[in-house]
Amino acid sequence: MTEQPKYIIFYGPPGCGKGSQARKISALLNIGHQSSGSLLRGEIANETEIGLNIKETLEEGKLVSNEIVNKVIKRAMLAEKFKTGILFDGYPRTLLQSKSLTEMVNEIEGNLVSLIWIDVPDNVLKKRILGRRTHRKSGRIYNIYFNPPKVEMKDDITGEPLTLRKDDTKEVLNRRLNIYHKEDNEILDYYRQMNKLIHIDGTLSIDETHKAIKSELTKFGIEF
Ligand code: AP5
Repeated sequence: MTEQPKYIIFYGPPGCGKGSQARKISALLNIGHQSSGSLLRGEIANETEIGLNIKETLEEGKLVSNEIVNKVIKRAMLAEKFKTGILFDGYPRTLLQSKSLTEMVNEIEGNLVSLIWIDVPDNVLKKRILGRRTHRKSGRIYNIYFNPPKVEMKDDITGEPLTLRKDDTKEVLNRRLNIYHKEDNEILDYYRQMNKLIHIDGTLSIDETHKAIKSELTKFGIEF
């Protein structure tokens, strides 16, 4: 019998560490890692029809419509390379997206394992966001304060230049935080009621947070 594809959600405010943690955990579990933000930024970089429509929305830190995001996510879920499952990072972000994901997982008879809420207070997020540097091609994430590259502004592996995201400014961060807090309680309640909510203290170091996530996931039947 083939194993059911597994779907795990990483949820939390901008800069809480979803991307940093999701990369490591997905590699250990041999499932895909799909960041909705990266997928959308890819559409923009490739100048697709979707990309042209959402460029401004992303730069301003506003949410892309549920319809577009669900379309991009569904495409990833049906891709052959993700048949073992996906670790979602940044999706779902609204109650409507949460319900759509449940439906999509049921349709393909997958296993929606849990939502991991990386909980970080707003006042800690500013330094994380303003200090973030990214290697665009690989998605490797650094931070000039907490996790600096070996050489300033250069990727550790390729030596290529690191970049700053256009939405990583103080003004746009405030907007992103306001949007996050509009629906966070409803989304958390939705997964709590399904007994699928994992709460993680995201103020710990990157390594400690990683250990805590692994330990909690084993309680949901995930083996490392
Ligand atoms: P997206 O790319 O998803 O951005 P985000 O949710 O705002 O999250 P970030 O990527 O900013 O942060 P993260 O939690 O991944 O943190 P990271 O690991 O990098 O979305 C961007 C935009 O796309 C949205 O604004 C919206 O327009 C659109 N969009 C995306 N999804 C959508 C959806 N579902 N619906 C509608 N629109 C959507 O860490 C941050 C920094 O902190 C790094 O520098 C890292 O090194 C550092 N760090 C991480 N953990 C720690 C730690 N424990 N201690 C110290 N430093 C740490």
